[in-house]
Amino acid sequence: MKIDVLALFPEILAPALQTGILRRAQEADKLAVNVHHLRDWATDKHQSVDDYLYGGGAGMILKPAPIFSALADLNREGTAHVIYLTPQGTPFTQSLAEALSLETHLILLCGRYKGIDERVRDRLITTEISIGDYVLSGGEIAALVLIDAIGRVLPGALGDYESAQVDSFSNELLDYPHYTRPAEFKGMHVPEVLLSGHHENIERWRYAEALKRTAERRPDLLQQLELSAEDVAILEAAGFCR
Ligand code: ADE
Repeated sequence: MKIDVLALFPEILAPALQTGILRRAQEADKLAVNVHHLRDWATDKHQSVDDYLYGGGAGMILKPAPIFSALADLNREGTAHVIYLTPQGTPFTQSLAEALSLETHLILLCGRYKGIDERVRDRLITTEISIGDYVLSGGEIAALVLIDAIGRVLPGALGDYESAQVDSFSNELLDYPHYTRPAEFKGMHVPEVLLSGHHENIERWRYAEALKRTAERRPDLLQQLELSAEDVAILEAAGFCR
């Protein structure tokens, strides 16, 4: 997977790209990330990339010419999936991360100021994505969120691939509680079942905990699922009514 990022503050991304799973994915040639400075495609002597709004109003937006030139260079074959990070986009989810991990070439355009000229959206953008209902000062951190979530589900990127398969959202549920040694800490005990060595019971307990935690914290997620009779029984026994 190749990811090109087009940004006004590329330095924001560098440390995270050089750390942990993202670094390992790049070292293993599963992932190649190139961060580009939009100003490199500015043509005037001040290297300006923004301009005032037609019709008036406060703030500046990114002007179209540098972005069109950059994307002409970065997407020569015209096959890249071009994503613009914006609060107006489709909400980013685990399933979107997994779908995007199957692409071969992503280009992430990071906005700044009040956004971009609409003609960039009309002509060049495949998908607009939001990482949440709040406004960041630019798209760089949002791009990093996408790269991190996509990078860790790339086949072969995570040493312990199983741990990506069973974590939160992999089965549309929040994660179950985790414990490590000691079995008793400050008077708090690890649930007996986890010490039993009985794998079937442990799996059943974990599933029930994930289900209850999701019902408690994110009932909206549960609404989207087809619950089995067994699921409903678990929830009812725990005092959750549907
Ligand atoms: N740029 C600014 N805010 C953003 C958000 N919430 N998601 C994606 N890109 C953004």
